[in-house]
Amino acid sequence: MCTFQAAPKSDWKTPVEVWTALHQAEQFTTAAISKIMDVALDKKDHATYSFLKEYIDEQVSSEDEILSILEKVKAYGALPGLLYHLDHELEKSAGKPLI
Ligand SMILES: [Fe+2]
Repeated sequence: MCTFQAAPKSDWKTPVEVWTALHQAEQFTTAAISKIMDVALDKKDHATYSFLKEYIDEQVSSEDEILSILEKVKAYGALPGLLYHLDHELEKSAGKPLI
């Protein structure tokens, strides 16, 4: 059965809304990989489980990284100008792990 998904949201009201959605997307991905890992374990498919472990480890890092940014966005949003500095910090670290 083929299902079509709605286009990704592209209209955001606040930076907090963007980063909250990103965090939720990472959580969704982590849950999906976890479900596959559960099936692999149930089927005693240890090779697939081992293969997916790397991805779940990456997801844990991604969730942590995005949550850290979300917390900064919430805190900095209360003080005008600090979001600019966060944006600059993220720009400098683009392509580099933040943690
Ligand atoms: Fe991810």
